[in-house]
Amino acid sequence: MQQFMEPADTLDQKTADQARAITSLGEELEAINYYNQRMAVAPDEELRKILVHNRDEEIEHAAMLIEWLRRNMDKWDEELRTYLFTTASIVDVEEAAVEGTADSPSSEGSLGIGSLR
Ligand SMILES: [Fe+2]
Repeated sequence: MQQFMEPADTLDQKTADQARAITSLGEELEAINYYNQRMAVAPDEELRKILVHNRDEEIEHAAMLIEWLRRNMDKWDEELRTYLFTTASIVDVEEAAVEGTADSPSSEGSLGIGSLR
């Protein structure tokens, strides 16, 4: 995964660090995909357990990077707070979030996002 799409010396440190985190997250997600498929087909039971362990560690790494992005890049906190740990239909959560930000009289009295959690 390409880390910098713009010349690195044109990026401020914050943007460069965000690029490092995003690239790392992409690499972790790719590793999760590799391990998940390999463990699904590995006939040897011990090898399968190792691959499951490795996959689960990559999921931990991905979660750590998402949390770093939440703390260090605009918009992540807002979106994660909207969607994570909800139980309603994700599409319904999105529609409620859009209604919640719509500043029109027709949105009054609509379901709040909290009611869909
Ligand atoms: Fe990892």
